[in-house]
Amino acid sequence: MSFADLWHELEPLGRDPVTGGYRRYSWTQADAACRAWFINQAEKRGLAVEPDGNGNLWAWWGPPGADAIATGSHLDSVPDGGGFDGALGVVSALAAVDLLKDKNFSPERAVVLAAFTEEEGARFGVPCLGSRLLTGAVHPDQARALTDDAGVTLAEAMTAAGHDPALIGPDEELLSGIGAFVELHVEQGRALEPIGSALGVAQGIWPHGRWRLDFAGRADHAGTARFADRQDPMIVYARAVLAARHAAAENGALATFGKVIAEPGGSNAVCSLVRAWLDARAPDEARLEKTVTTVRSVSERASVAHGVTFSVRQESHTPVVHFDEALRQRVGGVLAAAGAAAPVLATGAGHDAGVLAARVPTAMLFVRNPTGVSHSPAEHAEMADCEAGVRALAAVLEDLAGG
Ligand code: GLV
Ligand code: MN
Ligand code: MN
Repeated sequence: MSFADLWHELEPLGRDPVTGGYRRYSWTQADAACRAWFINQAEKRGLAVEPDGNGNLWAWWGPPGADAIATGSHLDSVPDGGGFDGALGVVSALAAVDLLKDKNFSPERAVVLAAFTEEEGARFGVPCLGSRLLTGAVHPDQARALTDDAGVTLAEAMTAAGHDPALIGPDEELLSGIGAFVELHVEQGRALEPIGSALGVAQGIWPHGRWRLDFAGRADHAGTARFADRQDPMIVYARAVLAARHAAAENGALATFGKVIAEPGGSNAVCSLVRAWLDARAPDEARLEKTVTTVRSVSERASVAHGVTFSVRQESHTPVVHFDEALRQRVGGVLAAAGAAAPVLATGAGHDAGVLAARVPTAMLFVRNPTGVSHSPAEHAEMADCEAGVRALAAVLEDLAGG
């Protein structure tokens, strides 16, 4: 089956007909459709699919054992996400197996295709939750108690989807059987287009995190409450947004408020509560910390001035990642030998590969994104570049899995 055929099969699943963006949130119907699609495709290729206790799917080509070569990515999306983020790595993994089977390649080390769950943290707030749970970076009890915006816990959502949440937790046996992980991903940012390269190789990932900020004030009448009498959390929140932007720019970092909830949400009332999520990323921990500390202190001062109660809680943190140097060199060598030399790029985007890197030699391939736009329905990669990515991934798997 060609890459394009596989791609077009997955394409409609979980796509909103109005926005054209994807809403593939974990443990929903859209997610179930994507998972069923992956399982079906893997089984069609004779791969044995074994979900782990955290809901990640693993499709084995060859018996699980020591030193398997893992590849894949995630199938979930951000709200109105693009079609390529995550899905490209999963589809490319299947298509790479097809290329290798077509040339009668038989792996000496098992090849295993992975589809991770809740990579975006779009439903339960913690990004790369599937891989973090697998490696023990998040406690199972803490994960089971995570809630979505409707108050549904992860444990409840998993149960409703037919997965036993009691199975959540680290899986040393699975991890110790993986010798290397290579994740192919659409480029997020625009480094490859200006240099005319279809592919890139990852150097590392910036440290990053998410913080939830709660600003509690007092609801009041928009037409009668004098400014001096208001306790308006929206004003303090607005200060925090601008502080984040300025502090990040000063520190060479990035900071974003992309999600905000104002309660109760009347257009003719001062709201009683603003709940907002800060996403901050920086080239190093010091600059990340400086940025977030500034947002906190501006929020604290403005809260006092406006009679608002402020609290902040870190929901996730990912330390800096440097991908395995030897594996990167090897992947680079395979690509160069295949005539697809790829520059080395750092990124501010998080990936399951970054989490697994703490336990397993890990590398990433990026496929050119001509506009650089991502986490948006406008995210794009040309079919020819995706096919180049599949050929590159197949060459890397062939090299690593021997045969
Ligand atoms: C994942 O895409 C992230 O970096 O937020
Ligand atoms: Mn993403
Ligand atoms: Mn992704």
